[in-house]
Amino acid sequence: MPTQRLVVVADPIDPEALVRLQGGLCRMVDASADPASLPGHLAEAWGLIVRSRTKVTADLLAKAPRLELVARAGVGVDNVDLTATAARGIRVVNAPAAATTSVAELTVALYLLLVRGLYPSISSVKAGKWERGTHGHELSGKTVGFVGYGRIAREVARRVAPFGVRTVAFDPFVRKAVDATEIVPLEQLLPIADIVSVHAALTAENHHLLDARAFGRMKPGAFLVNVARGALVDEAALLSALASGHLGGAALDVFEVEPPMNRELLAHPNVIPTPHLGASTHEAQQRAGTDTVDEVLRALRGEPLTALVPAPGGAR
Ligand code: MLT
Repeated sequence: MPTQRLVVVADPIDPEALVRLQGGLCRMVDASADPASLPGHLAEAWGLIVRSRTKVTADLLAKAPRLELVARAGVGVDNVDLTATAARGIRVVNAPAAATTSVAELTVALYLLLVRGLYPSISSVKAGKWERGTHGHELSGKTVGFVGYGRIAREVARRVAPFGVRTVAFDPFVRKAVDATEIVPLEQLLPIADIVSVHAALTAENHHLLDARAFGRMKPGAFLVNVARGALVDEAALLSALASGHLGGAALDVFEVEPPMNRELLAHPNVIPTPHLGASTHEAQQRAGTDTVDEVLRALRGEPLTALVPAPGGAR
């Protein structure tokens, strides 16, 4: 009997998904608790499952001569060198819808925290103060400008519509209005948005898309929310825009380097930082595990894949 194909799990994923993978179609090695053991397992690997800790670089791929499939248990594939996988004919799949609800809910929570000025108020009461008086604003009547208008941003738009929020979006891949959201150029979005909400995938083209110039074009007192990828925002320019008082605040779930190093940015009173937890709910992680393993099982059976990530330039 031929040896079964080996699927290596490099990062922790939902335990029930691992049980599903052990159903008899492949051999499975869980290297997630011992990252140092990963290179040793890669020599035989047919499939590799990662979350975001493991960086699937050309060097790592060189250790896996038999690799045919990389499965990303999450949305963003910026931790996978797609040029290197395409050059080897290695297919890459992800779990594009697993975290949509969780990230959308986090985003709405951050809007309310920022606009209402809740974070400084909570800190002040915890510090033994009792500062009342007129404070914060209503979300109602505000304009949210989405940078990137895929699944997550659309779910956010749906959730904030009942608050009486107007939504506009910039997305180079979306040309026409979607629901009530008008699609506009970035230059037009920045001066009209009370909240600029970042949801784009990170690509080679959009590094530091939100830079000093972009912050300069934003409305005085406007807020920035980034739940996508840190490198879309120039953090030094953001700190300057906050320090000058031009921007009213920022909520950041993602950073260019994680864990973040810029203590000044993290400590700024108008910055709400969270540790990249948008997709970390129990529900989203269960879905990510199941969706990813189901896709690996489809590949093992030779069935059509449902979440194939296109190679850069579209060639595959
Ligand atoms: C994602 O892209 O799915 C998340 O940002 C990263 C994760 O938590 O896996």
